Amino acid sequence: MTIFQLIEALKEQFDTDILHGKPDKNTFEEIKRKYTSRKGKIADLFTRMGTIEPVDRPKAGQALNELKSYITHKLDDLSAVITQNIIMTATSRLDLTLPGDPFPVGSIHPLTIVINEITAIFTRLGFSVAYGPEVDTDYYNFEALNIPKHHPARDMQDTFYVMDDVVLRTHTSNNQIHTMQNHKPPVKIIAPGRVYRNEDVSVRSYCLFHQIEGLYVDQKVSMADLKGVLNYFAREFFGYSVKTRFRPSYFPFTEPSAEMDVSCYFCSQKGCNICKHTGWLEILGCGMVDPEVFKSVGYDPEIWSGYAFGMGIERMAMQRYGIEDIRMFYEGDVRFLRQF
Ligand code: DAH
Repeated sequence: MTIFQLIEALKEQFDTDILHGKPDKNTFEEIKRKYTSRKGKIADLFTRMGTIEPVDRPKAGQALNELKSYITHKLDDLSAVITQNIIMTATSRLDLTLPGDPFPVGSIHPLTIVINEITAIFTRLGFSVAYGPEVDTDYYNFEALNIPKHHPARDMQDTFYVMDDVVLRTHTSNNQIHTMQNHKPPVKIIAPGRVYRNEDVSVRSYCLFHQIEGLYVDQKVSMADLKGVLNYFAREFFGYSVKTRFRPSYFPFTEPSAEMDVSCYFCSQKGCNICKHTGWLEILGCGMVDPEVFKSVGYDPEIWSGYAFGMGIERMAMQRYGIEDIRMFYEGDVRFLRQF
């Protein structure tokens, strides 16, 4: 066969190859390799150029170049068609009338909801928000709050010790000391945060929980101010019809000290399991700041007076949402968390 016949034959072969149905991507790659690779059919014809009559060479060269360009163009077109087909098959499986995939946005943790709500109530009353360390020295957690070493009140809280003198704070009351050391009176703060106690884990207690501390120091602050603010808080948080009562209590850092109860809003004080048939739920400890605490931060107790309070968040969240096991808050189970 002459070179011209060979060129013609190759074109025919190529045409049948690509006309043979719609090649898939793999077949296409194979055809491409067969004709255009370095050892392919076209390259093979080019190597024969040296063996033909010199008179035929220019024409043969031109014919071969035309075939090469014909084949590359055809292959380019085919490649575009194959890509398009792949997209089409993918989209033909898409039902565009279906609703879109939901975008997971998460939800706010119930403890955060309650903390935010309580914070909002107190900031409306002019309190600012303060934060303090969760790992703190014995001094801030105990000593400066009038709880010296070997004081029996230390047994009220089971403490995690990090070192001899360093503890995981057992209450947010350490913020009272940090705040007063760093600010001249008057001060009016609330301090939400995590606290830790070495307690047996159960349905009712966990080794960590949350509190909100309150502290107001000014001249001539009285117990009546304290009751007024806490009554306002109780009504805002639990609803207007809630009743409150103050019971005498003991805390080393307040004198006098009290605990505040709110009327049980599950049974409207008829008596139920949640209020243990007393009609009342205990929600916080409070009192007038003890002069010893003022002395430890360099406030003159003859001039300054104040009140403090501290409440547990978990209990309030459990009551509000009917959560029966405190551990649910910390397990990170999305089936639980999604409900808020
Ligand atoms: N720190 C106390 C506790 O964890 C709660 C408390 C009681 C805080 C009375 C106060 C307070 O500020 O005045 O049990």
